Amino acid sequence: MTWFLARGLLLVQLLLLSSLVIAAAANFEAEAIPGAYIVEFADHLDNYEDAFFSELSTAEIPARLRLSLSSSVFKGASFHLGDIHDEQDEQRKIKQIASSKSVKKVFPMRKYSLPYERISTANEYQVHFSPKKIEQRTMGDDNFYSLHAMTGVDKLREEGFTGSGVRVAIIDTGIDYNHPDLGGCFGPGCKVGFGYDLVGDSYTGENEPVPDPDPYDNCGGHGTHVAGIIAASSNQQDYFTGVAPNVTLGAYRVMGCNGAVSNDVLIRAFAMAYESGADVITSSLGGSGGWSEEPLDVVVSNIVKAGIPCTVSAGNSGTMGPFHSSTPAGGIGATSVGSVDNKAYPMLLIPGTYIAGGIDSEFGWAPGILSNISEGIYQLYALTYNTSSADDACHDLPEEPSDLSEYIILIRRGGCSFSQKAGNAAARGAKHILFYNTQPGTNQAYVYAPGIEFAGMVPETQGHRWIALLEAGYKVHLTIRSPERAGLTIMEEPNYTTGGYMSTFSSWGPSYEVQTKPQISAPGGVIASTYPLAMGGYAVLSGTSMSCPYAAGAIALLLEARGKLDPATINNLLSTTATPESFHDGISEYPFLAPVPQQGAGLINIYNAVHATTLLSAPSLSFNDTANLLKNGGFTIKNTNPAAVTYEIAHTPSATFYTFTTQGSKSHFTKGHPPEMITRGAGLSFSTTEVTIQPGEQAFIHVSPILPFNMTIERIPVYSGYISINAANSENDESFSLPYLGVGSVLKEAPVLNKQHVFLTSTSRPGVPWASHYQFNIPPPNSTRAKYPGLLAPAVFAELKMGTALLRVDVQPVDVFPPNQTHIPRTRVTRVFKYSTEKVLGQEILGSIDGFPVRYVPGQNVAGAWHGKLSDGTYAPAGNYTFLVSALKIFGDPDNEEDYETIKTDVFGIWYE
Ligand SMILES: *[C@@H]1O[C@H](CO)[C@@H](O)[C@H](O)[C@H]1NC(C)=O
Ligand SMILES: *[C@@H]1O[C@H](CO)[C@@H](O)[C@H](O)[C@H]1NC(C)=O
Ligand SMILES: *[C@@H]1O[C@H](CO)[C@@H](O)[C@H](O)[C@H]1NC(C)=O
Ligand SMILES: *[C@@H]1O[C@H](CO)[C@@H](O)[C@H](O)[C@H]1NC(C)=O
Ligand SMILES: *[C@@H]1O[C@H](CO)[C@@H](O)[C@H](O)[C@H]1NC(C)=O
Ligand SMILES: *[C@@H]1O[C@H](CO)[C@@H](O)[C@H](O)[C@H]1NC(C)=O
Ligand SMILES: *[C@@H]1O[C@H](CO)[C@@H](O)[C@H](O)[C@H]1NC(C)=O
Repeated sequence: MTWFLARGLLLVQLLLLSSLVIAAAANFEAEAIPGAYIVEFADHLDNYEDAFFSELSTAEIPARLRLSLSSSVFKGASFHLGDIHDEQDEQRKIKQIASSKSVKKVFPMRKYSLPYERISTANEYQVHFSPKKIEQRTMGDDNFYSLHAMTGVDKLREEGFTGSGVRVAIIDTGIDYNHPDLGGCFGPGCKVGFGYDLVGDSYTGENEPVPDPDPYDNCGGHGTHVAGIIAASSNQQDYFTGVAPNVTLGAYRVMGCNGAVSNDVLIRAFAMAYESGADVITSSLGGSGGWSEEPLDVVVSNIVKAGIPCTVSAGNSGTMGPFHSSTPAGGIGATSVGSVDNKAYPMLLIPGTYIAGGIDSEFGWAPGILSNISEGIYQLYALTYNTSSADDACHDLPEEPSDLSEYIILIRRGGCSFSQKAGNAAARGAKHILFYNTQPGTNQAYVYAPGIEFAGMVPETQGHRWIALLEAGYKVHLTIRSPERAGLTIMEEPNYTTGGYMSTFSSWGPSYEVQTKPQISAPGGVIASTYPLAMGGYAVLSGTSMSCPYAAGAIALLLEARGKLDPATINNLLSTTATPESFHDGISEYPFLAPVPQQGAGLINIYNAVHATTLLSAPSLSFNDTANLLKNGGFTIKNTNPAAVTYEIAHTPSATFYTFTTQGSKSHFTKGHPPEMITRGAGLSFSTTEVTIQPGEQAFIHVSPILPFNMTIERIPVYSGYISINAANSENDESFSLPYLGVGSVLKEAPVLNKQHVFLTSTSRPGVPWASHYQFNIPPPNSTRAKYPGLLAPAVFAELKMGTALLRVDVQPVDVFPPNQTHIPRTRVTRVFKYSTEKVLGQEILGSIDGFPVRYVPGQNVAGAWHGKLSDGTYAPAGNYTFLVSALKIFGDPDNEEDYETIKTDVFGIWYE
């Protein structure tokens, strides 16, 4: 699992580890921890832990408790198996444990890592100043929208709602509660009022967690950013503020300084957050999914069932195309949150002022590595007024003026290095440079040029503003103050390109079982928030990691305003009052609404959710695929107004998109974002299009879809749109929209394996087909050579076009090796070798390779290396084999061989030495 910060670069690359790696853009980094497991106790038992361990000791299975996980939402424990002789022994013991009556299920323990992606942080500038001076200012004032104006939070704040009395628990890297914007203290009465450190600094995700009661975020940063999005506040006016600054935050720290966590710790954190009496729980963690089977999903579902809303990130796999929702966003009832780009682009800048034509204005600059400038007033000088110059200052400067030493030189970025530009300016005596950017935001300018003492950067728009003034004949004088005295300001510029539209990184649903994912969206693209003081105090980050806490804060406002609500009602209110936005591919807007599998119900409008007097009974409708088409679907409208209301029901389809790029041959994720769309949507037929509902009464509206015509069903079309429910009365002009979606084909017929891309490969060039009949020399079991990374071993590669609930990789002996022949391998070790075959799904196989079968696999590339070990812990004898790759089709029956796609690879041989 990873935090859902947006990834700058999304590459579909293949990694290959010893057993199984699912490699894809989503950075799925779940690794099993050897010898460690999570047990879920059978339902009927209470506090089974002691009994479980004494049962193990009676059976002489040495095991050590790792974490007690029993709570009102999950009954279980994690444990380490001790005294394991070999893998076979381990498998046998786990089987024995799993078959015990007291055990519902045993899960392997997994470790999840934290990839880091920052847009900017204050301490990038290597300037030490007091971050207490942070302010938020808007640069350029035409048609500007602030973050909270996007979501109705601004209007609720004006009405006095701040989240008072609501407890929001955050499962993350802890919180720097010393930050003045986060209250400056920890404990009862503080803004960060409760919480726990489940792990300690040196926790790696694998070693023993060392919990302590202090959830201080001293090295992560992520959790402090999340906390600020929900609840940052400051005494000064106009300072930047979280969604609900008066909530009480709970900090459950689950990562040490190296940013990894095991799933038992996560389960415990969710349970602790629940038992602490949190009203909302938020976690920006997740992994590629599309299924919901992780034990964590179970916990999240149970918490939601118990009445506490959980917000989870939808994921950052937007460029992977449709059917890429994530886990635990798959948890039943969890609010999966997609990301919308901020309408403002925030930058962390040092404030300055300038005067031109007698008018004083503000600007902001980002220091570079050279920041030596005396405070004072400097005249601005530009070498060219051409704001599209491709190589400003890349060549020798003109002779005149011969001395630039008194000026600040304004130079456009691009065409050559900063140092080259600076060197050319230094040749005319220049000491001070401000570059202006050629893209949104600012960067730290790396300049090494003798003579240059100061080189910073201003945003592109600021550069253009100054050039325009200079070109018009004005003299421009800048007043520069030292960063230490000036402090740091968050300055914002409107983002007219993608602001207000879905972030291209935000993951697309639906789930493989055609559930609506994401459910809603909130601002998550370029968000400024708090950061640990030791790490600069403030940072701008992007990701569904950011939109998820935004939604949690919005729910806190809703709970404050409307009182306690169950999670289903919360989801219904959030969804039916959200604003669906037009589709935008990152470059331009399209004349249709973004599909429901991308934006869910649309951008959250919490003001409307708070004030809604009409309640709909569902957050969305899924018509499923054509084989399971929902026939009697619909929704209830409840009128809680004191007067009768007449509602008009209509419909706006979105575009239908194709999951596959071309008919059957290519997988959906090779195309990237966005999927191909056809503007024809579905039609809907309603049982009525106008209904008058008396006060306190409700009415059921039956809905059935008329599928878009002329779809290429082999490409798995997904249609969607929004049902609008408008109160027709003049005194009550509420309007609601209910998202729906469906799949225009039979998912069970959807290809799962890409037949052309399932083949024999090797560990040396995973992803490239390997010579048929190659004889691999692999180390015998126990050999230290097995750990050698450059080792050449056979491997299988499979490209999955869709996810599968069950993926097997079996080995089948070929003719030269009769199934029951006793073969003497070329090694001393013989006792662990397996000789007999079994019939599975109609095929004679020796067994599954180690690490398989795997369950609930997302549609990605899968690779498994094989060092001779089978999943039952035994080793295959030397011989010739093929890999058999079998994937269960969506909605298929795991016991029916007809419901699998099976592909046999080329023959290869193994021998041990
Ligand atoms: C392999 O390792 C196991 C324990 O790790 C040991 O019991 C066994 O004797 C070893 N086999 C050989 C051939 O070294
Ligand atoms: C926020 O909480 C503080 C302290 O409880 C209270 O004084 C203040 O009025 C609250 N603000 C609002 C807007 O509710
Ligand atoms: C708007 O935001 C997007 C996403 O962060 C960014 O890629 C784009 O460059 C921004 N555009 C402007 C004009 O700020
Ligand atoms: C679609 O139908 C399948 C098969 O009956 C079912 O498992 C799945 O849950 C359904 N999906 C939804 C969203 O109802
Ligand atoms: C049906 O779609 C195909 C391409 O997918 C197109 O060539 C054809 O004109 C369409 N037919 C109608 C009646 O729209
Ligand atoms: C091996 O298989 C043959 C037939 O295929 C059978 O006659 C023989 O008994 C088997 N040997 C063992 C040891 O199972
Ligand atoms: C595997 O097949 C090759 C020929 O492709 C043969 O030379 C080799 O002996 C076979 N290995 C075994 C163990 O039968």
